[in-house]
Amino acid sequence: MATDPIPPEPLNDGDVLVTRAMRRDDLEPVLTNETRAYAFPWTLGMFEDCLNSQPPYDCRVGIRGGSIVAHGVLSVGAGEAHLLNVCVARHLQGRGFGRVMLSQLLRRAAFLGAEQMFLEVRPSNRVAVTLYESIGFSCIGVRKGYYPSELGREDAHVYGLYLTDASESV
Ligand SMILES: CC(C)(COP(=O)(O)OP(=O)(O)OC[C@H]1O[C@@H](n2cnc3c(N)ncnc32)[C@H](O)[C@@H]1OP(=O)(O)O)[C@@H](O)C(=O)NCCC(=O)NCCS
Repeated sequence: MATDPIPPEPLNDGDVLVTRAMRRDDLEPVLTNETRAYAFPWTLGMFEDCLNSQPPYDCRVGIRGGSIVAHGVLSVGAGEAHLLNVCVARHLQGRGFGRVMLSQLLRRAAFLGAEQMFLEVRPSNRVAVTLYESIGFSCIGVRKGYYPSELGREDAHVYGLYLTDASESV
């Protein structure tokens, strides 16, 4: 297993988000953050499957002041990374942690050999869409009715990014 070469990044207010590999004993706080942040959250079994898969998904947590406040899950292979989940604890959203977490996930993807990253996002998720587009992701397709929603189903917009094109701001 490759070691993590990525140093923690300071946030503007002196806060620091340190990232490391997710462990099984992280799943309680991860699931708490997940269920508070998403209307349709991942289940415990989905995180366990990602950790148990061979080869495992690249599952990361973001730690601030000793507490897990963010998580992200990548699958990486054949030069492609797929961002399957990125989440910041609801009470800490809008403070820059999501941008730091995504920046760390982009670096992990490059470290693990990916040249491109892909993701799906609900077009109604304006915060996530704004974040992805600010980094340089472009919408490259639509998956009709991909997500469950309050009104039935919602399309997914598929975004892609060549990692060499990631904005200097990440
Ligand atoms: C999406 C998410 C990860 C972003 O993390 P965050 O910590 O809230 O976002 P940040 O504070 O890092 O802001 C990143 C960018 O998002 C955009 N943004 C943040 N809050 C916003 C708001 N209220 N309105 C519009 N855009 C916003 C801005 O472009 C911001 O960049 P800037 O402030 O540097 O210009 C987080 O909100 C989250 O966990 N949401 C629930 C789970 C989710 O939707 N995940 C993505 C699934 S595809």
